[in-house]
Amino acid sequence: MSKQPILTGISSVAIHTSGHNNAEFAHITPIFATSTFTFDTAESGMERYSGPDKTRIYSRWGNPTFTAAEETIAALESFGIFNADGSPLKLKALLHASGQSAMTTMFMSNLQSGDTILSHFALYGGTNELFKSVLPQSGIKATIIDMRDLNMVEDALKKDSSIKLIHVETPANPTLQCIDLAGISELAKKYNCIFTVDNTFATPYLQQPFKYGADFVFHSTTKFLNGHGTAIGGVLLGKDLEKMNTTVWKWHTLMGGNSNPFDAFLLGQGMKTLEIRMDKHCSNAMEVANFLNAHTAIEKVNYNGLSTHPDYAIAQKQMRHPGALMSFELKAGLVGGKKFIDKLQMCVRAVSLGTVDTLISHPASMTHSSLTPEERLKYGITDGLIRMSVGIENIADILNDLNQALSV
Ligand SMILES: Cc1ncc(COP(=O)(O)O)c(C=O)c1O
Repeated sequence: MSKQPILTGISSVAIHTSGHNNAEFAHITPIFATSTFTFDTAESGMERYSGPDKTRIYSRWGNPTFTAAEETIAALESFGIFNADGSPLKLKALLHASGQSAMTTMFMSNLQSGDTILSHFALYGGTNELFKSVLPQSGIKATIIDMRDLNMVEDALKKDSSIKLIHVETPANPTLQCIDLAGISELAKKYNCIFTVDNTFATPYLQQPFKYGADFVFHSTTKFLNGHGTAIGGVLLGKDLEKMNTTVWKWHTLMGGNSNPFDAFLLGQGMKTLEIRMDKHCSNAMEVANFLNAHTAIEKVNYNGLSTHPDYAIAQKQMRHPGALMSFELKAGLVGGKKFIDKLQMCVRAVSLGTVDTLISHPASMTHSSLTPEERLKYGITDGLIRMSVGIENIADILNDLNQALSV
């Protein structure tokens, strides 16, 4: 058996963390399409049941195709991070059926009736709805404030001792607001709160919340980690390995939010090109933002890579590149926005994000339709706001398409 190499780059980690170590010497981790696993003897079954690793018993509990993807994500999120004693940070990842499922396990396994979550107002619509209409049924409520103001965060923590968990999504849907991870982490420690982060928009290549002290991180792997729009999925990561292997694992398996071998395989393949895809997504996004910003038909561009964005400095501090998501408003408002969307010839009209092709959607009628118009306005979501997930097509073709769609 060869020695484990010390890998110095994210692509090497994404490509080499898992694979080839299977009994059939397959180069690529196979799709283990099996619901259950066999025991040679009663004794070996008993051993597997009583051992620490219950992943080779039944696929709701784990499966080798899941393990391969989980190990890769854990290696990416912990890449280059060290504990206070100098040892490398070790993370445990649990693959889920969706980002929503990973997020639900995260909240339910960490909170009890009577607890409060403190969070920022700009959130993915599904997270917002979970806070508003699902978690309250279990006695868990959410206090929503502007977490870009750390004084406001501290005031809320001082006032309410039921706040047990601070949750942030950064950058956040769809105005790309960013939250100071280091600042929030410090307050979470001071007030003995769990600190959780939705890292979907950034991916571990652009931002590593564990570096700033996060306790749990989750992703909708449906997005950039898969990268090709082929599967819904989610992952929950934690650094308290004992808790991940006991309480969190129990909630995950008993709520039944497991992944499936085919989707896990697609995710494993997608992640191998994460770095090269993200570099192209981000360089294209910067060009698109500059193009839109200079266009006479555009009223406003929300992109955290533009120095005019209110959270530009935070994005520069904690992200490798500002990312591939942006939103913008046309001077012609909702009517002009609809015309623009209908005229697109290459960019794709669809919700979701993080795929190799450029996706364009309309938050007011799609991702944020669960909010009232007043709530939407408070969050900067006007009726004419258009969201764009910039793909990795040739930049000239993206700009040509936008240009022709913006022409009157
Ligand atoms: C930021 C963010 N978090 C969570 C989710 C939920 O993920 P999923 O759709 O995979 O359940 C989404 C989905 O769009 C998202 O954009």
